Parts: sequence; C-alpha cells; structure tokens
Amino acid sequence: MHDTQFDRRLSIAPMMDHTDRHFRYFMRLLSPHVVLYTEMITTGALLHGDRDRFLKYNDVEHPLALQLGGSKPEELAECAVIAETAGYDEVNLNVGCPSDRVQNGQFGACLMANAALVAECVHAMQSRVTIPVTVKTRIGIDEQDDYAFLHNFIESVKQSGCRVFIIHARKAILSGLSPKQNREIPPLIYERVYQLKQTFPDLQVIINGGFTQQQDITRQYQHVDGVMIGRAAYQNPYLLAQLEQVIFDQQFSVPSRSTIFEQYCQYMQQQMQQGERIKNMSRHIIGLYQGQPGAKRFRRALSQAMPGTEQDKLELLDDALALMSGIS
Ligand SMILES: Cc1cc2nc3c(=O)[nH]c(=O)nc-3n(C[C@H](O)[C@H](O)[C@H](O)COP(=O)(O)O)c2cc1C
Repeated sequence: MHDTQFDRRLSIAPMMDHTDRHFRYFMRLLSPHVVLYTEMITTGALLHGDRDRFLKYNDVEHPLALQLGGSKPEELAECAVIAETAGYDEVNLNVGCPSDRVQNGQFGACLMANAALVAECVHAMQSRVTIPVTVKTRIGIDEQDDYAFLHNFIESVKQSGCRVFIIHARKAILSGLSPKQNREIPPLIYERVYQLKQTFPDLQVIINGGFTQQQDITRQYQHVDGVMIGRAAYQNPYLLAQLEQVIFDQQFSVPSRSTIFEQYCQYMQQQMQQGERIKNMSRHIIGLYQGQPGAKRFRRALSQAMPGTEQDKLELLDDALALMSGIS
C-alpha cells in the first residue's frame, strides 16, 4: 500500500499530441502546483521505441505522472519500473481511451469490461514500484453504464492496491463514435463520480470532464478530492494561473500573460539551441490570450507559416507579443 504522496486537487489531463514536455513546461510556468501527465505512451513504444525521447522531461515538471496504455501485466510492470527509474512521481493506466487503434491493442476503455485483468495489471505494476499506480477510466462502456457496473469495476481494481482513480464522467461508446465524439456526445454524469467517493471514502477520487470555469472547479471539492482539466487547459491556459492562486496559494502573485510569454520564449530559445523546432513549441501557447481583446490576432500570428530560420521564427514571436502590448 502506498501513500498517494502529493496534492492532487488539480491536474492537467493526459492528451495525445498536446501534453508533450513543452506544453507541460508552459503549464508549470502558470501553476507551480498542478499535477502534470504525459501523453499516453503504449507499452510497446516504451519497451521497443525511442525510450529517451518518450521519457524526457524538465525537472520543474514535478509532480509528473506517466500515462501508460497496455494490458499485459508483465509489460506494464516493466514500464512502471522504467518510469520510476526515470524519476516520474506516478504511473497511470489508461482505461478510458475509446479509439479503434487502442481497442485493437486490447487496452484503453475496452478494459473496463475486464476488471480482473485491470486489477492484475495494477497489481503487477504496484508490486514492482514504490510510486503510486493510478487508473484513469470512464463511468461505463456501451450498455454497461449503470452505477453497479462502475462500482464493481472500482471495487475489483481497488483490491489490487490502487488508491487513486481519475474518472472521466461520461461513458465511452466503443463502436460508431470517434474519440472526439466520445468526448462530447455521451452525457456527463458528475453524480456518478460523487457517489463513488461516498461509497469509497478511503479512495482518492478525481473528477474529469467538461470543466472550464473556476467556480465549477472549486465547487467540486465538496464532493471529490480533485479535478482534472483537459481541453480547457489547452484552450484557455491562463485559467491555470488563476486556479493556482485560488486553490493552492492565496499569496501567489499571478504572473501577467506577457511575463509568461517572455519566460516561455526564453525556454524556446534554450530548446532551439538543442535542436527543437520553434513551431513544435510555439503551437502550445496560442490560447494564452483567450478571452482578451486581440486574442484572435495573436492566435493567427502564431498559427501562420513562419518563414526563415529558427532564429527568425523566434523573432517573429516577438512581433506577436507586440500585437498584444497593453494587455497583461
Ligand atoms: C486531443 C486529446 C487527446 C487526448 N488524449 C488522451 C490520452 O492520451 N490519454 C487519456 O487518458 N485521455 C486522453 N484524452 C482525454 C482527456 O484526458 C480527458 O479525459 C477529456 O478530454 C475530458 O476532459 P476535458 O473535458 O477537461 O477535456 C484526450 C483528450 C483530447 C482532447
């Protein structure tokens, strides 16, 4: 049995093609305490692919969790050891992704139908590492969508020693919907997640799905232990700085958007010198001025094709910042 170790009141959801190390660095500039997750990494990719590239992170990213996709207990256990050795603070198992590709690999959301296997996976992982092994899942799949199903799933996986469950509060429909539709069409049922916390007060239950507003987020603490934010963190990242102050540290002096921008530019410059491409990094901050006058212009300036050398591109970003002068 392991302590859950760090404050999980707020976390940023794992998102493929979004939560790479550059985006996580950006998030950390905005919030010193939010818990960060990698994109999902399959066991196959980690065991046989470019491991250093998948594992690379910046020390400021802690607390940092690695999310795994897989369903073979031995492979997952091996990957958990790799994550712990690399310094990650948590390993998370993806039991929520509905994509066909993931279903063909027999992992993600379809694993909800096989609680015994998920329990076996978690047990195998947890027996090899001291960092917490957590599970991110949904409230159900297809027709298996009542509370009893969710309850039984959690009860079984809990037996394996898992103490932290992140619940995306909508079911997954495993055929006929794209992953994007599966994040929008099945209705959000937050009450299911609240009920879970009532039934299992000893578990840490983190709610996920549809949170965009500060008040709605802080209200969740009446019911559950934490809130995980996905798309809103990407679309409106500055929300994170405001949440940092409200949730973690009332003394936190919220940095201005332009300060964040400048800090991130310094980071991009360092990374550029190590061969990273500006475009791969600048794409993460297009939402920084969301809701402010000129946000559209800023987004456009960052999204356009940038000519010239990498250094030229970095300088073009200064022009984008100049567009926003006067807006903090
Ligand atoms: C572009 C994108 C990629 C995602 N990739 C993953 C992933 O790799 N692993 C995962 O567990 N969930 C993934 N999700 C789902 C999110 O983690 C989250 O559960 C979902 O977006 C609902 O939260 P939100 O309404 O706050 O966005 C992804 C979501 C998006 C939008």
